[in-house]
Amino acid sequence: MTAIPLLQIALDYISLPKALAMALKVAGEVDIIEIGTPLCKAAGLDAIRAVREVCPDKLILADLKSPDVGGLEAQMAFDAGADMMTVIGGAALATVESALKVAREQGKEMLMELTGVRDIISRAEEWKRIGVERMVYHRGWDEQVFHREWAEEDRLTIRQLIDMGFKVTVTGGITVDLLSFFQELPVSIIIAGRAIHQAEDPAASAHEIRTTIHRLWGDVRGEFAAASSFPGLTARTAQDTAAKAIRWGVSEMGLLLTVDGRECPGCDSPQRFCQGTTTTIHCPPGIHAADVVEEIGHLVSPGLRRAFGQESPSVFFLDPDRLPDLSAGRIVELLRATGNALRHLGFQADMVAGLAAAEQVLE
Ligand code: 5RP
Repeated sequence: MTAIPLLQIALDYISLPKALAMALKVAGEVDIIEIGTPLCKAAGLDAIRAVREVCPDKLILADLKSPDVGGLEAQMAFDAGADMMTVIGGAALATVESALKVAREQGKEMLMELTGVRDIISRAEEWKRIGVERMVYHRGWDEQVFHREWAEEDRLTIRQLIDMGFKVTVTGGITVDLLSFFQELPVSIIIAGRAIHQAEDPAASAHEIRTTIHRLWGDVRGEFAAASSFPGLTARTAQDTAAKAIRWGVSEMGLLLTVDGRECPGCDSPQRFCQGTTTTIHCPPGIHAADVVEEIGHLVSPGLRRAFGQESPSVFFLDPDRLPDLSAGRIVELLRATGNALRHLGFQADMVAGLAAAEQVLE
């Protein structure tokens, strides 16, 4: 599935009260609030704390562009309430590694900021080797002032980074009209700063950007499924709802799940990073993923066979986006088969609690 990119507003202010007022204005229209680099410098960690306080349910990124002492700076940002922080691409590998280590220990994110990096792909190979997952592809503010336009070359580099397995954020003077330039790329986050906070009606501008992102990245199958299964909801909501039903269901059955390789913090949590629909589930002790997958295969109708599989000897996955449709019946069938398969293999999955949780989400 091509996930729909999240929208991040960059609060590039030097006045914290102004930044807070803007955060409150647009919070309902964005997914992530960025404490911009100027605001980090002007108001420091207080800016992160204050935005966390007024927007408790949003993801927060501290755009520290940390050049050194990465572990400590990451720790400070996360302690203040940020979910993500950035390290500047020119930083030493040791800085990247220490920030990444802290982020991992805390279930948070570190992103490489590519402003000013010339040899992006060769640096990216190094970062890949040490486990970096996310980066911010940036047309720098000053470069834009000097008339650097987005170009085909940028698209090619972004494509290469995505093909290497990175989750890529794009930023740098992005406006609603520029969105179609990125449409063919499965980028994970789009940042807009001035296009929102300098607009006459910032909330309306954020709304227009977000709606356009959904229109450009929404896939046809998703729209069809949304219309047929959850009338009135958008494609993203239908897929999200299906994934949430699966996650809540397996969790209530007593299973340990991970999403995008991390312990799942819960679909309604501000700590949530996942955009995809795949849930990976750890087999209870003594049970092998291959056996679970085989058992589920015996229990579901043939059309559902792509929606589950083995990830590793002890981990299997469920992905409602690979179901023939996103109807509640299909989702419940997949969950029921999973619970029954585990029961056949000796694990007492709590089917009543699991199915009730899923049905509650799907209602
Ligand atoms: C500057 C930044 C900005 O936050 C980023 O460029 C987004 O702002 P805008 O959309 O106004 O360009 O990181 O270094």
